[in-house]
Amino acid sequence: PTPVVVAVDGPAGSGKSSVSRAAAEALGYGYLDTGACYRALSWAVLDSGIDAAVAADVVAGLDSFDFSIGTDPGNYFVLVRDVDVTQAIREPRVTGVVSLIARVPEVRDWLTRRFRGIIRSTPFDGIVVEGRDITTVVAPDAPVRILLTASEEARMGRRSKELTSESPEAVGEALRSRDRADSRVVDFMTAADGVTTLDSTDLDFDQTVAAVVELVTTTT
Ligand code: C5P
Repeated sequence: PTPVVVAVDGPAGSGKSSVSRAAAEALGYGYLDTGACYRALSWAVLDSGIDAAVAADVVAGLDSFDFSIGTDPGNYFVLVRDVDVTQAIREPRVTGVVSLIARVPEVRDWLTRRFRGIIRSTPFDGIVVEGRDITTVVAPDAPVRILLTASEEARMGRRSKELTSESPEAVGEALRSRDRADSRVVDFMTAADGVTTLDSTDLDFDQTVAAVVELVTTTT
């Protein structure tokens, strides 16, 4: 049977990763963090010494950048070949090049094919897939499509709590500039036709997860 796909898009710091993972856990579904895959590819590009700004070199390396990702929400990991990069892909040096790599159309096509394969072969009844272009490109036919937003202030506040070693100003600027770069490639700030906007500005974490679960159980 084809799995129920729950597509979740949103900007950086919207809380979509932690919310999607917790919702998947509550629903007994799988969880696919597509941003982590863009990050894994970026880590592999840096590791191989390829200049991330030279799109042709990145594209030429694609098939050698093998990565795998855990889709069980209770057992999340990211590997590049046999290296566990679950933590390393969150480092600023990776975050600093990911938008450069994500803007290359061949990279997006290559990853989108991988995502669809992972979705098709999930052992769960459904899968929560989270990113920037899931509701529009990766799974536009998903029965549940959500744009998770929050005010810029709320997003900055949440993210600076995660990254305590950096000043709130630096965190804010890094987040804004990444969203600016990413927005030139995919629009994840406005809900496409048929996509439900869920604004979490005034919701706490548990309330946001409950709202996602509710949307899934009322729709499917
Ligand atoms: O979600 P996260 O912030 O980890 O995503 C990292 C980067 O991956 C984004 O800044 C964006 O450049 C890219 N991305 C994307 N399309 C997706 C998911 C992530 O371009 N579906």
